[in-house]
Amino acid sequence: MSSPFSAGKLVIANWKMHGSVTQVRAALSVLSQDSACNQSHIMIALPTPYLLLANEWQQQQQAGWQIAAQDVSSFAEDGAFTGEVSARMLADVGCRAVLVGHSERRQYFAEGQQVLSKKLKALAQHHLLPILCVGESFAQREAGLAWQTVEQQLDEVMPLLKELPQVVVAYEPVWAIGTGKVASLADVEEMHTQLQKKLLHSLPACATMRVLYGGSVKADNAEAILALPQVDGVLVGGASLDLGQFKKICQASEKR
Ligand code: PGA
Repeated sequence: MSSPFSAGKLVIANWKMHGSVTQVRAALSVLSQDSACNQSHIMIALPTPYLLLANEWQQQQQAGWQIAAQDVSSFAEDGAFTGEVSARMLADVGCRAVLVGHSERRQYFAEGQQVLSKKLKALAQHHLLPILCVGESFAQREAGLAWQTVEQQLDEVMPLLKELPQVVVAYEPVWAIGTGKVASLADVEEMHTQLQKKLLHSLPACATMRVLYGGSVKADNAEAILALPQVDGVLVGGASLDLGQFKKICQASEKR
């Protein structure tokens, strides 16, 4: 049987709370015209107001890239929840995947196990692929607690992951996000090896699994990170807003 990790490398752009209609149109046009970007393993996680625009663009141009969302409501069913966006709505506007557990949501919105579990359940109901983000703080790494922290974050939602046909985990050390500090290749290799082992052991029936790296991925380090066999893709924040850099990162994923 082939390894559940053997599929090609994913590249996910996370625009966070950035962008405008003009910027989104420009980016979609560039992505659609570039052969390295116009591929199904390239995903773009836009702010919610721009998802429909991206969906319409994708349909009209028959673009190859896929659309992702940055968040979803923890309420599984539509209803009187002012301001919330349901998994059903995200699927309706063509999203394929959704980020969950990003450290910014854990930090600024106090998202923990309960909320994450509900979100994972809602995504599963609508056949959306969750990109589960995990990662340790600098203090936790310094205290030798990096793996323990990441393992706990996984264990908290493992019962939900067991229900999924596909699991994507993004290892994003919190201290590397938006700081320009990247985990060393040796640290990435070590953490990803442990994550793969843990997922294989805990989710033996899962058809495909991927472990992505995120945290200050740029055009000049993407190739080395993507070359690691334990890295199944990258989650790119700041550098995804710079189209020149993002194109280079997509090109680096093609070589693998
Ligand atoms: P960064 O963000 O690439 O700007 O470090 C990554 C992320 O938060 O997903």
